[in-house]
Amino acid sequence: MLADQFSETFRTEHRAVRDAIFDLIDAFRAHDQETAGSLVGQIATLTGPHFRYEEETLYPNLVKIFGADYVDALINDHDGAIASARRLVELVSAPIGDAEAVEGEAAARSLLPHVSDCDGLSIMVERLPESEVSDVFDTRARSLEAGLNLLEWADQVRYRPNLTLVS
Ligand SMILES: [Fe+2]
Ligand SMILES: [Fe+2]
Repeated sequence: MLADQFSETFRTEHRAVRDAIFDLIDAFRAHDQETAGSLVGQIATLTGPHFRYEEETLYPNLVKIFGADYVDALINDHDGAIASARRLVELVSAPIGDAEAVEGEAAARSLLPHVSDCDGLSIMVERLPESEVSDVFDTRARSLEAGLNLLEWADQVRYRPNLTLVS
């Protein structure tokens, strides 16, 4: 079943982001600017195409399951993650003092709930028509090929739909 393949792919991507976030928390605690910087870059690289295919195809397909309000809340989480990523980029661009370590750890940790919430969507993807799951894979392939990191995508391409107004 294509949905099973999707769940596995989705889980693997979330796991990679999750582990990078935990490593980033450790790097902030260690005041290790170089490692923190490379992890912020890694997280941006992983989440750019991932958020993109979610917002362009997966999340819209889930409106008929959850209703617009919950899907809008998922997109709000992305708004928050993008804002946190911008702050993380600033924090790793200078030596990490005590205040920066605390703020960086909190910003990194703030990304975690969406990782697990988002992974839970897999169980609903099982209820989508196979053609829609296939569309998600197509958008994923295109997003990976475009290869924009999170902030490049957010600044150059992202259109933030307001689902509660259009539904
Ligand atoms: Fe996700
Ligand atoms: Fe997401």
